[in-house]
Amino acid sequence: MALLEMDAISQRFGGLVAIDALTFTAEAGSITALIGPNGAGKTTFFRMLAGEIPPTSGTIAFKGTNITAFDVTRTAQLGIAKSYQISQFFPKLTVRENLTIPALAARRGKFRIDIFRRLEGVDGLEALVDRTLAQVGLAERANDRADDLSYGEKRRLEIGLALATEPELLLLDEPAAGMSANETADTVALIKTLRDHVTIVIVEHDMDVIFGLADRILVLQDGKMIAEGTPAEIRADQRVQAEMDGGIE
Ligand SMILES: Nc1ncnc2c1ncn2[C@@H]1O[C@H](COP(=O)(O)OP(=O)(O)OP(=O)(O)O)[C@@H](O)[C@H]1O
Ligand SMILES: [Mg+2]
Repeated sequence: MALLEMDAISQRFGGLVAIDALTFTAEAGSITALIGPNGAGKTTFFRMLAGEIPPTSGTIAFKGTNITAFDVTRTAQLGIAKSYQISQFFPKLTVRENLTIPALAARRGKFRIDIFRRLEGVDGLEALVDRTLAQVGLAERANDRADDLSYGEKRRLEIGLALATEPELLLLDEPAAGMSANETADTVALIKTLRDHVTIVIVEHDMDVIFGLADRILVLQDGKMIAEGTPAEIRADQRVQAEMDGGIE
């Protein structure tokens, strides 16, 4: 059984079919990338997976549980976390405080800890936050305010917010968007170190990121999967080259 199994998933917005009977599985420990031109349905796919919008039809199973009708909270509790493109952190709190919030929320969800208990009493909370700080390379910045971080550091904090919930499946929505070449290279290196701990599905326009990371690439167009394969197979696919904006470099 794969970690994630999406079977004939569709999403309709009025007359528009944003995702058209898509079947997708992700094995535990894999990194899958979703690429495709603007409007292909990548964000819609992620939103269904994260429980933000229910599919119009089809089923989603995660760890063997049918989560098709799960909302964001229940989806997160079962172990799916999404790193958002837009800033989800609190600018005036420190990096450590920001990471403590999702870490605490996840721990409470799992262990039903008394809401009035002191934070120091929450088993493993500090260790989890420390580990997350190290994972996203922000240990040195732990006590700095989030709004003092550089752009690249802020984006790493976003990934940290998702990781602090100890997900089994991490959804990364354009983690390298707006980054400099150096920041992008750092982000690729960071994501590579995560693969031992978490299964990853990534949406990204930057082909260097995709080809540097993914085990498997899915190409979406008009809500349909037009190709699927290893980076080498996708690079050699004439149809994909022709369909993608400007081709794949
Ligand atoms: N809430 C919505 N209501 C109506 N139409 C929507 C909604 N969300 C997305 N769409 C439409 O569904 C299609 C897929 O959109 P989606 O945002 O998933 O594409 P995308 O692959 O993420 O594109 P991009 O690369 O530009 O981010 C588009 O035609 C879009 O206009
Ligand atoms: Mg999108």
